[in-house]
Amino acid sequence: MKLILLGAPGAGKGTQAERLSRRLGLAHVASGDLFRQAQDRGTQLGLLAKRYMEKGMLVPDEITIKMIEERISAPDCKRGFILDGFPRTVNQAKALDSAMEKRGADIDKVLYIEVSSEELVRRLSGRWICRACQTPYHILSSPPKMAGKCDRCGGELYQRPDDSEETARKRLDVYFSQTTPLIEYYRTQGKLAEVDGQGNIGRVERDLLGVIEGVQTGGR
Ligand code: AP5
Ligand code: MG
Repeated sequence: MKLILLGAPGAGKGTQAERLSRRLGLAHVASGDLFRQAQDRGTQLGLLAKRYMEKGMLVPDEITIKMIEERISAPDCKRGFILDGFPRTVNQAKALDSAMEKRGADIDKVLYIEVSSEELVRRLSGRWICRACQTPYHILSSPPKMAGKCDRCGGELYQRPDDSEETARKRLDVYFSQTTPLIEYYRTQGKLAEVDGQGNIGRVERDLLGVIEGVQTGGR
């Protein structure tokens, strides 16, 4: 099973990808997490990505595509994967299509999580992330059991620098101008499923699972 989670910054891609990947035994491939891990390690990729991420801009396609192609070639992606945050431009989607074609594979479904702009801003401003395992929390809707500590691994929670109001707004602008054309791109391919992302986390997960079960039973 090869899935894409599509949605604006704050739509819940990371939250849902983490839950679905554990439940379905699929690799969770998150482009933003990969860039943040590269930054933590101080690699050349990390330093380069930081220059764009801190401004809320997209990292250039060439760099991002190469990173994802390498990641999805890893052994843990053999059984399938969930892409979170990639593709984000039509150019990236086309590159993914050709990478899949070369492997004789295909993306099974694109799950588009829809959330209103006001709710996106509320979610981003209240988000805390685990530095070790990247699990997202929210001060109101999904707080950790112990303040500042990850429920899953005990790691330290922090606020992403690009969740500052100004940078989050820029990320939303970039999403609406550069990423929303993908909705039509995947609708034309017959792969798009729209899911209401406004409900609570458990309800959104159930709706996503409903679509995935439909794919598994052949009712695409
Ligand atoms: P990335 O890390 O991918 O960030 P993003 O797309 O901006 O998305 P977010 O991680 O902000 O949101 P999310 O949808 O994962 O929401 P979450 O589950 O955390 O990218 C960061 C940067 O890296 C980019 O700006 C760019 O520079 C670069 N980059 C990454 N990919 C790239 C690419 N392909 N090409 C070029 N550059 C790239 O949830 C948000 C909050 O809401 C959390 O607090 C959560 O607890 C809460 N929440 C979630 N679901 C619910 C719910 N149902 N109800 C209430 N609260 C909820
Ligand atoms: Mg995320």
